[in-house]
Amino acid sequence: MTLILDGKKVAESIYSQLLLEVSLLPVVPKLAVILVGNDPASETYVRSKAKKCQALGLQSETIKFPDSVSEETLLAKVKELNQDRGTHGILIQLPLPSHISKSRLFESLDPLKDVDGLTAENAGRLMLGKPRLVPCTPMGVMEMLKFYSIPVEGRRAVVLGRSEIVGKPMAQLLINANATVTVCHSKTKDIGSFTRSAEIIVAAIGKAKWVGPDLISEGAVVVDVGIHRVGDGLCGDVDYEKVESKCHAISPVPGGVGPMTIAILMKNLVLAASLQVKKG
Ligand code: GUN
Repeated sequence: MTLILDGKKVAESIYSQLLLEVSLLPVVPKLAVILVGNDPASETYVRSKAKKCQALGLQSETIKFPDSVSEETLLAKVKELNQDRGTHGILIQLPLPSHISKSRLFESLDPLKDVDGLTAENAGRLMLGKPRLVPCTPMGVMEMLKFYSIPVEGRRAVVLGRSEIVGKPMAQLLINANATVTVCHSKTKDIGSFTRSAEIIVAAIGKAKWVGPDLISEGAVVVDVGIHRVGDGLCGDVDYEKVESKCHAISPVPGGVGPMTIAILMKNLVLAASLQVKKG
């Protein structure tokens, strides 16, 4: 029987731990979300983040800007939120319009409020093995593996994708957990030659049902980070129906990594608030 990695179940266990931590904090953590434009997927994500804050008794504020907003206006908003002691986490929803420099905007974030873990300071800390705020999706994958007692140390892991928000931090987290890690990407030749010898595969390539049974060895652990709208349903980067029976464990889409991303965002917000309280 294949083990199904149930992200909702793992997220619930994170939330019950978080409620305890929040009750011990002298402040109510507040998340500020910056949303530029009206991409429907981004609007849905932002709404679910705000709803989750509310459900946990945390505060949130969504600050909307039109597509035409200038970089200066966004930089000024980040500066204001950096200085606001009542705001503990700042999330700049991606993607941003092409006239905005993503790196300039993220680098203007106070690293202690960077709940996405994307500033150079937080990325550098992860690389140096001293992580603080870590990107939510890859951290969610690690928490999922831990919850299901899936060993990582000494195992061959392949990460498909090298984005700054998932692939690169995912590889780094797996290295920090003593896996032997290969990162495959759009320029990799013969990806199957890597994935077929992998014990753990994390798919984050952004192509619907791209990972088929030919790419997977019997007994692999497959974690699917992708999310795609097909017809009136959702699917991941993995062809779930064809791959499932070959796997020791697999995460479904929806209900796998998705709920974990938001759970870690909440965890990062609470961590950010406690770091700011300690700093005074
Ligand atoms: N857009 C899609 N996923 C994410 C995420 O994890 N963080 C941010 N900031 N934007 C996103």
